[in-house]
Amino acid sequence: MKLRIWTDVSYPEAATGLRREVTRGQELIAGGGALDACEVAFGQPRPEAVMDSPAVRWVHLDSAGYERYDASGVRAGLAARGLALTTSSSVYREPCAEHLLAMITGLARGLPAALDAQRGDRSWPMHEIRRTARLLAGQTVVLLGYGAIARRLAEMLAPLGMTLVAVRRRRQEDALARVIAESELGEYLPLADHLVSTLPANAETRRFVNAARLGALKPGAVFYNIGRGSTVDQEALIAALASGRLGAAYLDVTDPEPLPPGHPLWAAPNCYITPHSAGGYATEKEELVRHFGENLRRFVAGAELIDRVG
Ligand SMILES: NC(=O)c1ccc[n+]([C@@H]2O[C@H](COP(=O)([O-])OP(=O)(O)OC[C@H]3O[C@@H](n4cnc5c(N)ncnc54)[C@H](OP(=O)(O)O)[C@@H]3O)[C@@H](O)[C@H]2O)c1
Repeated sequence: MKLRIWTDVSYPEAATGLRREVTRGQELIAGGGALDACEVAFGQPRPEAVMDSPAVRWVHLDSAGYERYDASGVRAGLAARGLALTTSSSVYREPCAEHLLAMITGLARGLPAALDAQRGDRSWPMHEIRRTARLLAGQTVVLLGYGAIARRLAEMLAPLGMTLVAVRRRRQEDALARVIAESELGEYLPLADHLVSTLPANAETRRFVNAARLGALKPGAVFYNIGRGSTVDQEALIAALASGRLGAAYLDVTDPEPLPPGHPLWAAPNCYITPHSAGGYATEKEELVRHFGENLRRFVAGAELIDRVG
């Protein structure tokens, strides 16, 4: 029997053609209209619409984040129906991990300061940059969140000789990182040269990175965030940078987005900002469709789905 697949995604032609291919043999209902008669939803359906559509058996989000589905009422409703929720985490883990690796290595080598000098006064800050450059070997990274992105980053950092500590909700042994609970964080922050957040937005992560935690870091530590802006107390971050105690911050996500041109984060000392571009790459949309296609194949076969939440 044909599955009816609802979608609201609107991608360039290459990805749309691929979408036709991966859904061949099924009925594709594009345009984001009514969900009620569909068994599968691909894109960003509203949780309320899914709850009101008893035919839906599987929702596949074209994002890594699933904050709208992370409310206890929604999760309980989905679980009661046995409805599967999957994300596109696999599509974003490589670019996001590479983006973080670029910032960690770039800052350690003083690249932003050198590029500022090139675009600014064309001075030759050789001594200052050489003197402040740091070797990563032997340094400690504390990872807030240890999901798809952070685990890929850990694979990239471990060969550099860095010590890795990771906070997640579920404690599980790991070959690369010492996995700790949030309650143990206070013990490890003073050891951290780098604090890397890939936390999603949810009720528990709001302002997770606050004045107390920033203040507990080793002096000169660097903070990175590619998760969500809401997980950081930005006023506390600006104060930590202004005091000079926090060495630098690198943010791919902020609250709000886009960050208004007059926002104080832009001018905070040693604060480097990219415009939520960590997950992007030229073939991103095709990869999203391929990922959905692979999960569709598995759904039809009754096999385990990739990136299933819960
Ligand atoms: N900047 C970008 O372009 C971009 C691109 C993609 C994703 N993102 C963001 O990055 C986030 C992470 O992506 P991912 O693919 O790595 O997601 P993921 O695989 O779902 O990992 C999320 C991690 O956060 C942990 N976590 C959640 N709430 C927590 C809490 N209260 N305390 C401690 N740990 C908590 C989870 O713990 P458990 O493992 O124990 O559940 C998990 O380890 C996404 O949700 C999205 O917001 C940004």
